[in-house]
Amino acid sequence: MEKMEFTNNWFAQNARDIWDGLFKTEKPRKILEIGSYEGASVCHLIKTLGNEYPLEIHCVDTWEGGIEHKKGGFVDSDMSEVEARFLNNTRIAISQAAHPVELVLHKGYSDLQLAKLLAEGKAEYFDFVYVDGSHQAPDVLVDAVLSFKLTRVRGVLGFDDYLWSEPLPYGHDPIRCPKIAVDSFVNIYCRKLHVMPGGRRQLYTRKTAS
Ligand SMILES: C[S@@+](CC[C@H](N)C(=O)[O-])C[C@H]1O[C@@H](n2cnc3c(N)ncnc32)[C@H](O)[C@@H]1O
Repeated sequence: MEKMEFTNNWFAQNARDIWDGLFKTEKPRKILEIGSYEGASVCHLIKTLGNEYPLEIHCVDTWEGGIEHKKGGFVDSDMSEVEARFLNNTRIAISQAAHPVELVLHKGYSDLQLAKLLAEGKAEYFDFVYVDGSHQAPDVLVDAVLSFKLTRVRGVLGFDDYLWSEPLPYGHDPIRCPKIAVDSFVNIYCRKLHVMPGGRRQLYTRKTAS
């Protein structure tokens, strides 16, 4: 059997247990992920939910890495190899799934790609949206607002790395972290969403109104 290849355990550390709990009751069929890297999170969705029913999964990524993935950065990755592993890993996962999986790739910066999805008529289309792209607060804020529009009412919008911060020589920089953006979004949209319990290093919301 062909083997998938992953070079880190970010997904297993942060999200896997939460998703396994969440998807006992939530049964998303139309899924959007912002930030896919080698496909660990998407392959988990395919291996679990793709064995229960057909899926449509959209992945948005530049496959250029965030600031922390650049040469000499916090995580030094060759992003063309990362993209090749994403393509191979998802191909293997789809070939092994019991049900058909439609995987749609949107390669580019998330602000433009999410706006394009909205322009194509996908407002309130997705059952589950997972934001795990840029970790810079201004980018996360844009991802949050556009993702909210793309999530259906009663759907779930989740954020990875809510408490993430970069080890910088000058200490903690809140503008280079997701938290300030996620907090601002959740506060401003408080009449249109609920914060779901049990996220720990992640934060999940349920959209309650358009
Ligand atoms: C932390 S990784 C995603 C990890 C993946 N969800 C997993 O669980 O294995 C973040 C990804 O976001 C992408 N990214 C960073 N900034 C982006 C942006 N502004 N637009 C689109 N993708 C971006 C990077 O290329 C990288 O692949």
